[in-house]
Order: sequence, then structure tokens, then C-alpha cells
Amino acid sequence: MRRGISALAAAGLLAGGLTACSDKGDDGSAGKIGIILPDTASSQRWGSDDPKFLKAAFDAAGVSADIQNAQGDKSQFQTIADGMISSGVKVLMIVNLDSGTGKAVLDKAKRAGIATIDYDRLTLGGGADYYVSFDNVTVGRLQGEGLVKCLAEKKYPKPVVAELHGAATDNNATLFKEGYDSVLQPKFTSGEYEKGPDQAVPEWDNAQAGTMFEQMLTQRRDIKGVLAANDGMGNAVISVLKKYKLNGAVPVTGQDATVQGLQNILAGDQCMTVYKAIKQVADAAADLAIALARGERKKVDQTIKDGETGRDVPAVLIPPKPIFKDNVGDVITEGFVTKAQLCTGDFAALCTENGV
Ligand code: BGC
Repeated sequence: MRRGISALAAAGLLAGGLTACSDKGDDGSAGKIGIILPDTASSQRWGSDDPKFLKAAFDAAGVSADIQNAQGDKSQFQTIADGMISSGVKVLMIVNLDSGTGKAVLDKAKRAGIATIDYDRLTLGGGADYYVSFDNVTVGRLQGEGLVKCLAEKKYPKPVVAELHGAATDNNATLFKEGYDSVLQPKFTSGEYEKGPDQAVPEWDNAQAGTMFEQMLTQRRDIKGVLAANDGMGNAVISVLKKYKLNGAVPVTGQDATVQGLQNILAGDQCMTVYKAIKQVADAAADLAIALARGERKKVDQTIKDGETGRDVPAVLIPPKPIFKDNVGDVITEGFVTKAQLCTGDFAALCTENGV
């Protein structure tokens, strides 16, 4: 029996129900979802963790997802997006390489009637339907607090602190900085710490972070702490510190709980990292994407302000967790890394020593 529009509206089905039918794939399924990841060099996560957890989430729901990686190339990013749009994806999920190219892709998708999700990085001015990420200001605050904790253990009087920020084109780098500035700036202002050199690392390029840090260290050999915005850049800093026999003496921060970062922590060369439960963001993003593909718009509790348009973007923001030497094992318990991955070679003894 056919029900009229008003009957559907009365039953509260108009907003979701009608669109759901028209947006369903020919076979009545959710249709295909396209996902573009940014690169495989700036962090372990993009080549391994995110694709793994995203695939698992879509597989579990029986929805087909096309997950591709732009390898740090903005024109490749756009080519992949064009291919996905013309292949008829119902939803496009992106991690932008910068807001400009991200917005161009989101605009194109919207013109083709495709729903969009910003995954991990907010595209400024992009107008995505949702933003699914971590509480990134808290990520930065945990880095700042972590560095303070490790510097307190060293008991350096008025330590000089250097900073290597993430890419200036990544809105997350701005949010991380906002977080650690809230902890470190008051220490600089009060004179408890001395502000050392600081620089943003283009494209989060790990090798360039190492080169930049070596220049900083040759100018200021008395650097006593380094706020490095992720584990890859932290590892580049640690390699330089090793060259000058300063590793372990100069606490370095990180983020992403990479295998290398966790091993640097076990070795005493890295102060801390920030564990971000990628399975949780992947599951949340997949859930929203599948609903969007069926023409449904799920309600989420949070929003994030797009500084460019002033729009409050509906958001899911997962809380991050700090990891120090004494809780490295938590990352294994969470199922993010395995003991076999972490406790290889020389690290086997360090794992035993630290109860991992
Ligand atoms: C992500 C980090 C990552 C960095 C470099 C940021 O946008 O949030 O997890 O380490 O990009 O890829």
C-alpha cells in the first residue's frame, strides 16, 4: 500500500526515509564509499593503521569502500577524487593535504550530490557534512604537559625548549599548537622556561624536521627539551640528538603511538607519545558514512568551528591518551600494536624490564 507524503511526514519519516530510498544503491545497499588518505611518509598511521581499521569497519558492515592514498601529491589527490566521483560513490571521505585542494574536491563532490566527511583534518571553508577526528587541542595539551613532566624529572634550571610544529597547512597542527602553547607559554612568560627556536615543518616531512632541528641545535647547543608534534618528527630529532650524544638527556615528545615512537620511549630517548584510538575514529566515520550513503543523517553530540566560515561542523571527537614509559603496555592492551611488533631485537629486553 502506498502512503502519501503527508502520512510519511506525520510518521516522522520524511527527512530520513524518503531520501534514504532515493539515495540507496541500485541493489538497495548503501552504495560505495570513497576514502582518500594523504600520504604514507608523514606518519605510520596513513599507510597502516587507518586503512586497516577503516577496511575492517566497512567490511563488518558489508559495505564496499574504495580506500586510496594520494602519496603527498595534491594533483594525485584531485585525480583520485575525480575517479571516485565519476565511479558513483555515495560518500566521499577525505584527509586533506591542505584546505585549498581539500575544498576544491569537497565542492566538486557536493555538486555531484555526494555527501562528504572530513576525516582527521578539518578542511577550512570546506563545508563537509561531518568532521570525525580526535580532540586535537587536547592532543597538544597532553604533549605540553608530558614535556613539563619529563623536564621536571631532569631538574634543569630554566630549560631552553625548542618546538617543531606540524605543517602550517594542516588545521590539526594549529590545534595541537593551541594545546601545547596553553601549557608552555605561561612557563616562558614566567621565566620558568626559556623559549628556544621554533618552526613549522612543511608537510610534516620527517627528514626536513631532522635538518631543521640540527640547525637549531648548532645555534643553541643548550636546548634541553623538544616539543615535536608527532613521532616521526620526534624520531628525526632523536637521531640528531644521538649524533651529539644528547639522546635521553633531552626529552622529546611525539604523537601517534607508532611502533618506532614506543620503542624510543622504552629506550629512554623519547619522553612520551599520544595514543589516538584509530579504531574508534574509523568505526565512527564508517558508521556516519554508511548512514549518509543511505540518505540518513545521524545526530552527533559535538561540533567544531570552521574558523574560515564560522560554521559549526557536526563532529565526533575521540579523546586522546598520553603514553609514557610506565604505560606503554596500554597500547598493546588496546590492540593497537602487538607485543611481537614492539618487542623485537634489542627491545625484547627493554620490554621485559618495563613489564611490557
Ligand atoms: C594527524 C597526525 C599525523 C600528522 C602527520 C595530523 O593531521 O592528526 O596523527 O601524525 O597529521 O601525518
